[in-house]
Amino acid sequence: MPDPLLRLSAVRKEFPGGVIGLDSIDLDIEPGEFLSLLGPSGCGKTTTLRVIAGFESPTSGAVKLDGRDITTLRPYDRPVNTVFQDYALFPHMNVSENIEFGLSLRKIGLADRRRRVAAALDMVGLSDKVAARVSELSGGQRQRVALARAIVCEPRVLLLDEPLSALDAHLREQMQVELKRLQSSLGTTFVMVTHDQTEAMSISDRIVVMNNGRIEQIASPAALYDRPETRFVAGFIGTMNLLPARFAGISGSELIFEADGLRLMIDNDGTSPPGPGETVTIGIRPEDVVVSGPSVDTAPARVISVVFHGKALRVHAEIGTGTKIVIDMPRQGENAACRPGTILDIGLRPGTSCPLLPA
Ligand SMILES: Nc1ncnc2c1ncn2[C@@H]1O[C@H](COP(=O)(O)OP(=O)(O)O)[C@@H](O)[C@H]1O
Ligand SMILES: [Mg+2]
Repeated sequence: MPDPLLRLSAVRKEFPGGVIGLDSIDLDIEPGEFLSLLGPSGCGKTTTLRVIAGFESPTSGAVKLDGRDITTLRPYDRPVNTVFQDYALFPHMNVSENIEFGLSLRKIGLADRRRRVAAALDMVGLSDKVAARVSELSGGQRQRVALARAIVCEPRVLLLDEPLSALDAHLREQMQVELKRLQSSLGTTFVMVTHDQTEAMSISDRIVVMNNGRIEQIASPAALYDRPETRFVAGFIGTMNLLPARFAGISGSELIFEADGLRLMIDNDGTSPPGPGETVTIGIRPEDVVVSGPSVDTAPARVISVVFHGKALRVHAEIGTGTKIVIDMPRQGENAACRPGTILDIGLRPGTSCPLLPA
């Protein structure tokens, strides 16, 4: 196996006072990928980024780039640039001076500097703002300058800490598309921190889900959505019903479970079945619950509330002795009449394979 571009091995970071920022992080980052670090506030995302950048030195463990140990290398000696959450632009410099700054530090000649600044500005769509003052720019434009300033140094790895969090929802979505486009056209490895799962899901090749200074799961967006491996990931990515269910046997290629009166036939995608009578937690997406379809085992569910969700109605309901379940119903026909108190016959969509998680 060739070395990955970046390798973090058993990286641990203890802060003074005993706070454990990172527990034991093992992470390989491949050349050219868009990798996101995703997790709740305080889980260690920024610390991971700072360890890669060299702003923070690990208490133990190692950071390697192309197989070379860079754990103790100073930030400016690493082929890595960072886009900070607050942009950290120099307010007294204009746009091109901001972008040129890193090139001047690296003793790059004037003509080359000008050419690279122009190319970087073109990449982020700000060619007409070369001489503008930073204070004259909108939030979205400042974000682009920060990006241009980072890519102009042609880093091997670009680190981005919540780069879009200061932008409003509309601009944010637009910038997500641009960030992805920029990353593909540069072919540079991007490592982005975000606490926003929609953002991570929409632009990443792989996502590292973190919790409490540890990695919960590393996978593609689709695999995280379809096959979460821990309860934390199942609860963190999208909406997931986590139903306690008793194993009731096997029928052909399906595993049969019983969850508070609801019979669940789950497509077995190769996982080993639980023991007889064992209780597990089954993760069921709201869109995989169907209302009175033919040929499914159904159980009555009493509607508690109905929330408008664009194409779907998101229904919160109760089955059996009060187990809560969230259902997404297409907003059409008789579904429109669904209201609190309505009794629905619900079942699991045939052919659905659901993650089986510890009870
Ligand atoms: N310089 C520091 N001194 C003490 N504790 C810190 C320091 N930096 C981060 N921490 C702690 O380490 C944990 C991880 O922080 P951080 O990596 O910033 O989280 P995130 O970016 O995921 O929100 C938190 O508990 C935070 O309070
Ligand atoms: Mg952070």
